[in-house]
Amino acid sequence: MKFLRDNWYVAALSAEVTTQPLSRQILGESVALFRSTSGQVTALADACPHRGYPLSRGHVVGDRLVCGYHGFTFDCSGACVTVPGQERVPARANVRHYLTIERGAWVWIWMGHHPTEGSPPETPWLVDVENWSSVSGLATINASFDLLVDNLLDLSHETFLHGQSIGTPEIAETPIEVEVDDDAGVVRVYRHMNAVPCPPFYARTTGLEGPVDRWQDIEYSPPSYYVLHARIAPVGEPPRPDNSDDHAFHMKILYGLTPETETSVHDFWALARDFRLGDDEVSEFLDRMQRAVVKEDVDALNLLEERRTKVSEVSEVSVKVDRGALAARRVLRALNERAPA
Ligand code: FES
Ligand SMILES: [Fe+2]
Repeated sequence: MKFLRDNWYVAALSAEVTTQPLSRQILGESVALFRSTSGQVTALADACPHRGYPLSRGHVVGDRLVCGYHGFTFDCSGACVTVPGQERVPARANVRHYLTIERGAWVWIWMGHHPTEGSPPETPWLVDVENWSSVSGLATINASFDLLVDNLLDLSHETFLHGQSIGTPEIAETPIEVEVDDDAGVVRVYRHMNAVPCPPFYARTTGLEGPVDRWQDIEYSPPSYYVLHARIAPVGEPPRPDNSDDHAFHMKILYGLTPETETSVHDFWALARDFRLGDDEVSEFLDRMQRAVVKEDVDALNLLEERRTKVSEVSEVSVKVDRGALAARRVLRALNERAPA
């Protein structure tokens, strides 16, 4: 599959982007990201037009980036504004500028060669710090993007791959419902588990003991954005008709799926919760647990990718739990067919 360029992707964690430029490969392109002294995030092609030195090896002065080799200087639009030793600046010395939008913990980038349509997905849980506390991170996986899609759309793997933290036997045993909303471009996968054990990940953070109602509602917006709405509630207390659900604990588990190359992918994650707000101990616990969970996924996907290169035919026997992933593949295929060459 080719890269779906005309989309917003997560380019970086907000905290990663500083006045010290950062180099990141996204959809096979090298991008230099930096923050000007006013706080504005800028993304430029990470190759100086003069002799190709990575601009990410340069330094920021105010809202300009100075190449670390011979000092060509660029403004935030990518225009070359200074060439040392001469007055005239060649018009061709400009560098590609990428549109970016910073929202809470994530910086989004428009990778299209065409003008953007719309804005990145709304992630209010990362922005509304009054009502949500979050932790976030990034793991880069040596596996292709489609393996990460499969992984996130079929959470039955939690039972087996993440048995020490978030997985319980009921996840793999509970049937899912799958829905594709073609108008909104969203694949939804619902798994509602009632009166099931509360895994350590939630027991320790919510304080709930014994059985709980645990809901997992996935919304995947291909290609690049995924949110799992997790709801943990005392047994038998469904959301009330007026939508007030104060007796439940909510966590939003967000992923930004950003291909790095054809065989590697950046897995941006964020966990936002509406309980124990501002509690550093809970944040640290969740951060530690999530990093361990993501590491288990990374190890599994690295292994699958490695096998792909060694085994000529990888067999696939799809079963009921795969319906979400298969729906996602169909949507991705359709996007691919419609994408400009
Ligand atoms: S390579 Fe950048 S100024 Fe020469
Ligand atoms: Fe996982």
